Amino acid sequence: QQLDLDIEQIEKGGYEHFMLKEIFEQTSSIHDTIRGRVSPQNKEVFLGGINDVIPKLVNARRILIIGCGTSWHAGMVGEYLFEEFARIPVEVEYASEFRYRNPVIFEDDIVLAISQSGETADTLAAIKLAKQAGATVLGICNVVGSSIPRETDAGVYTHAGPEIGVASTKAFTAQVTVLTMMAMLVGYRKGTLPKEEYHKLIDEFAHLPEKIAKILEKDQDIKELSKRYIESTNALYLGRGFLFPVALEGALKLKEISYIHAEGYPAAEMKHGPIALIDEHMPVFVAATKDKSYEKIVSNIQEVKARKGHVIAIVTEGDTVIADMADYVIEIPETLEALAPLLTVVPFQLISYYIAVLRGCNVDQPRNLAKSVTVE
Ligand code: G6P
Repeated sequence: QQLDLDIEQIEKGGYEHFMLKEIFEQTSSIHDTIRGRVSPQNKEVFLGGINDVIPKLVNARRILIIGCGTSWHAGMVGEYLFEEFARIPVEVEYASEFRYRNPVIFEDDIVLAISQSGETADTLAAIKLAKQAGATVLGICNVVGSSIPRETDAGVYTHAGPEIGVASTKAFTAQVTVLTMMAMLVGYRKGTLPKEEYHKLIDEFAHLPEKIAKILEKDQDIKELSKRYIESTNALYLGRGFLFPVALEGALKLKEISYIHAEGYPAAEMKHGPIALIDEHMPVFVAATKDKSYEKIVSNIQEVKARKGHVIAIVTEGDTVIADMADYVIEIPETLEALAPLLTVVPFQLISYYIAVLRGCNVDQPRNLAKSVTVE
């Protein structure tokens, strides 16, 4: 028993919990995921695992992305990326719904399964169904040699390293990183992503680890801020465009580990429901970095403030407009719009972590949840 505990302490590498260690590892896990795949020198993206199916992807009529939990959220970012860069229609499906509802699958469909563990029962069953229908099945997994990579025709590993905390953090950013590289590559080959933009993305990729490190420097400020919300019973997360899936992921993180009810919404949908919940007690977390929907998200924040809501916004460094309106802002470094999910999610992970720890929750092993769900 004593020995087990000591080994666990060593594995935590000086961090109090695996989750915190894994949040901090995102500087290196993103680097590991792009290493050997994105070359700033040659201005190239190369994904060996799917190289042979690139022509199929370039000509794809549609892509079906399937996953569960956090992997499904990564898939939603993937939808925005593939549509933006490669102009390929994408549908994102919960594996559990897909497998049981007699889905329409064409032989020329590309089915892309996303799974950290590579063992999720529903995702595995969905893959088998897609294979029976004759579709090309690709995987994005973290655990090398797990069941899903063995079932798929081709795939890309995330190289995030082992993730122990039940709430997924570094696996999510690694999945989004792979999806970004894939969508860039396909878009460039197809001619829908102009060379100039492709090169800009490649250059910016190299700066992501240092930008994440800069966000992580705010760790103690975020801990301080989190103290204010430990008594909350509800929280709302808002985002638009690429940051809508980040809002979903932020809400999932909070509910998983702190047991505070949280919902993620596309900011403009707020007026169709959640606006009724707004009062001075419920924190509203907004991903509001500078992008093409910036003006719109500013008005969404105004709508919340007009109802005496309490706003915590993730903003681009130097933003004074939202700083004047919101109750708190967390500044993050500027990046390209399509890469913003990789940065914006980090403060949300830290907020959830600290709220949960301060509430006395077991963050690495939340009640009723499993790291890998191998049953239905
Ligand atoms: C469980 C885990 C989540 C994870 C989901 C999908 O619910 O608690 O963190 O996102 O399964 O797992 P997968 O291994 O397929 O990504």
